[in-house]
Amino acid sequence: MKLVLDTANLEDIRYFNTYYPIAGVTTNPTILSREGGDVVAHLKEIRKIIGDEKELHIQVTETDYDAMVKEAKTIVKVFGKNTFVKIPVTDVGLRATKTLSDEGYKITVTAVLSAGQALLASNAGAKYVAPYVSRLENICENGIETVAEIQQLFDVSGTETEILAASFKNARDVLEVALTGAGAATVSAEVMKKLISHTTTDTSIAGFAADWEKAFGKQTLGSMLK
Ligand code: E4P
Repeated sequence: MKLVLDTANLEDIRYFNTYYPIAGVTTNPTILSREGGDVVAHLKEIRKIIGDEKELHIQVTETDYDAMVKEAKTIVKVFGKNTFVKIPVTDVGLRATKTLSDEGYKITVTAVLSAGQALLASNAGAKYVAPYVSRLENICENGIETVAEIQQLFDVSGTETEILAASFKNARDVLEVALTGAGAATVSAEVMKKLISHTTTDTSIAGFAADWEKAFGKQTLGSMLK
């Protein structure tokens, strides 16, 4: 399962793009509002950091069909071919998704809270659907089961639409989603860190370093091989 970084914070994007195997970056209007300033320059900087090949997901802000289609095309023109236009799962959104997908644009249908919405988005030609795991769990629904049901629907139908699971508040849910066979998940910097953190890993590494130094001092294996 691909992992995407769910933030517009430049420092976090630089860090995780350098050290972690991320497939790209997702944004939404709320995420961008947290950074403020010149939003276009900010998004251009994100594209510069991650390069032209990685996925950058940018959400439309227009709500009228014609304006949404026009905005989506402009987004891709400005931010490049590997830009996925996020479109909310509304009646207008489905129509715009169909139009744009038919023309070859890559659409991520977002704010998906049910398998029914995912089915419609897939039939409209979406590349990704983004089910909101934590937002489902916040209202006593089962986010993982919803993702699993969507994945089952996609497997049975043979659609090319993939899941980009979103809205995570803990790392365990990311693993549960991976086990459903979902193609991708987008997670915050905090949750990404939780995927790697383990105190026993830290003590193990400290133990290796201490034992090595006791036996061989400050020399490294690399220096001995020269
Ligand atoms: C993807 O970009 C989604 O918009 C995002 O994961 C939603 O997350 P939230 O529920 O934490 O706002």
